This record gives sequence, C-alpha cells and structure tokens, in this order.
Amino acid sequence: MRVYLDNAATTPLAPEVIQAMLPIMEGVFGNPSSVHLHGRQARALIEKSRKQIASLIHARPSEIFFTSGGTEADNLVFRSAIKNLGIRTIITSPIEHHAVSHTAEEIAKELNLSIKWLNVNSLGQIDLSQLEELLKTNTHCLVSLMHANNEIGTLLPLKKVSELCQKYNAFFHSDTVQTMGHYAFDMEAIKIHFLACSAHKFHGPKGIGFIYINSDLKINPQITGGAQERNMRAGTENIYGIVGMAKAFEIAYQCLSEHQEYIGGLKKYMIEQLEKNIPGVEFNGDAKGSSLYTVLSVRFPSSEINEMFLYKLDIEGISASGGSACSSGSNVESHVIRAIHNDSKRPSIRFSFSRYNTKEEIDYTVGKIKEFYSIQ
Ligand SMILES: Cc1ncc(COP(=O)(O)O)c(C=O)c1O
Repeated sequence: MRVYLDNAATTPLAPEVIQAMLPIMEGVFGNPSSVHLHGRQARALIEKSRKQIASLIHARPSEIFFTSGGTEADNLVFRSAIKNLGIRTIITSPIEHHAVSHTAEEIAKELNLSIKWLNVNSLGQIDLSQLEELLKTNTHCLVSLMHANNEIGTLLPLKKVSELCQKYNAFFHSDTVQTMGHYAFDMEAIKIHFLACSAHKFHGPKGIGFIYINSDLKINPQITGGAQERNMRAGTENIYGIVGMAKAFEIAYQCLSEHQEYIGGLKKYMIEQLEKNIPGVEFNGDAKGSSLYTVLSVRFPSSEINEMFLYKLDIEGISASGGSACSSGSNVESHVIRAIHNDSKRPSIRFSFSRYNTKEEIDYTVGKIKEFYSIQ
C-alpha cells in the first residue's frame, strides 16, 4: 500500500483538471499578446479563467494577477508594493512561511525598515493585543500574517486582523496559500489588500498561482518587461496552468462544504485513532479547535526511532512530512515547531489530507505507527 499524506506540500492533479488542460495543450498555442486569431484564442482563455476565479471569491477580475505561485505572490508584496505604499514598519510573526519571513527580513535590511515580530502562544496563535499596540504606536505599517499555518494548521482570525488594520490605516497582506480553494473568501465582505494563492495546493498544476491586489492600490510590477497582466507581471502567460488552476478552483468551490466535511472527518478520525493506539501522543496547534482541516501535526512520544520516524514511514509506504516541504525527509526541527515548543526531544510529524484519502489509509498509517512503538 502507498499512502500520500503530504497534501500541504502539494496535491495530485484532479482528473477533471487534466481533462480541462489537455485540449488546450493540444490545440491552443498562440501567444496571448498576439493580435491574430491564435493569440486571441489564448487571451480569451486567460480572461475567462480570471473572471471565473474572481467571481468565486467575490473580487473584480482586475484584482487578480497571475503569478508562478505563492512564493512569487508573497515576494511581490515585499519587493514591490512595500515601496509604492511607503511602508516603514513590517509587522509579522515568527511562524510565517519562509516565502514571507525570509523576504521580509531581506527587504527590511535593504530598505532600512523596522520589523516587529508578534508573539505566538503554544497553539501558534498570535497576540492580537500586541498587534493593536504596535499598530497604535507605528505608522505606515504592513501587516503580513498567514491565514493558516502550513505546518501546524493554526488559523488566523482574518476578520479581526483586517478590522484592526482598517482601524489603524495599516495595509494587510495574508498568505492564503493553504486556505485558497479550501475556505470561502468574500472580498466584498472583508478588506484585505493582498492575498497569495497557489494552484498546486488544491489539485491544480504546479508553477501557477495568483495574487489578489485590492483595486484601491496602485502597485508597480516586481517582474518587468512586457505589458502582460496589465503591466503588473511581465512574461508570456502560462495558459495551460491558468486554465488548470481555474478548473481546480471551480471544483474546489462547487464542492467546498462536502470536501470540508469529508477531509475534516478524516482528520478527526486520525486524532481519535492515534489517541486510542499511541499513549502519550499530542497534537501541535489547536488541532481540535480552530485549525485548518487538511493538516494534523502530531507530537509523538520520544523513542529510539525519533530521528528515523519519517524514514520508517516512507519504508512502510507512507508519505508524510516533518514540517514544511523544505524540511521533509529530514528531522531538523522547523522554525514553527521551535516557536511554539522548547522541547525538541519529541518528533513532530505533519499528516495532511485531501479528498482522495480514505479511512483505510488512516487505519493503515496508525497501525504501522503502533508497530513502531511496540517493536522497540
Ligand atoms: C503558507 C505557504 N506560503 C507559500 C508557499 C509557497 O507556494 P508555492 O509553492 O506556490 O511557491 C507555500 C508552499 O508550501 C505555503 O505553504
């Protein structure tokens, strides 16, 4: 049996997405910037995809800019928007994805900006009163906080943070890479200036995503060259990726509550089975409370197999992760786990689910883990 429980790292392409992309890959090759028929065919597909995506999150098509994925979307905010908006202070947290934290640190150094790191508690929740205090005492702020943590699943109260930012005239960027395609967004009902999205996290293709930029803002491009994406992102568009992402987005939002219920049910089942079979097991983040339903981060009891945990899972046919994708395969403690615990003796393993997983796969995985502990 081979079980894939690393869906926060990436997801398999949905068959419907492949079916949507194939005819375009076979039949549409024009450059969307060309004015002849071949170009116009490609352009029409891009604009149709943009409209589909925008309408599903109640945004305007002109607020959606296609990028190569989440990392580029996050970089655009720090490497370009920050200059246009005259930002002097970045407020962020120590558990952001490196696409945000490394970029923020680099830009702060380059532009001599101040970075304020919010405190996080042992569940990975940020301190909202500290955020308010910082917003009160600093001007020209950019708040960058992820909607859901990719390693431990903790959710940010997006609406509360957005209201605080509005109250103190701060700009708000949220890395929504783990939640776009998994939660409903209504950009008419909430004020967020920037959102990042990546298609491969919800059964779309890799190397494509988008950034939502609120229409009130005028931002210069990060990647310069041609006039693509209304001068916001130069380079010939990835038509196949864009069409695939729009299809993946459509499926995600057509069946949102069904997927939430099914995947959330798998997570709950795994929690129950682990608690029943592995004495001393604990969960990182607010696993049973306000938490991303696709991610379960487990703190296993310390044992001789600590270092070998992921490797042993892999040998038994189970793909999981030690934290973020860049640390999968190694048991180096991640910056997120370090920020919430100071006990590195216990291995933290992230299991992340999709609609293609089953209870049988969870039973198999828990059964193998039980064997690890009983044969020591
Ligand atoms: C929270 C978060 N932000 C950003 C990224 C980067 O996205 P991409 O792989 O599309 O560059 C990831 C991917 O792991 C992520 O989980």
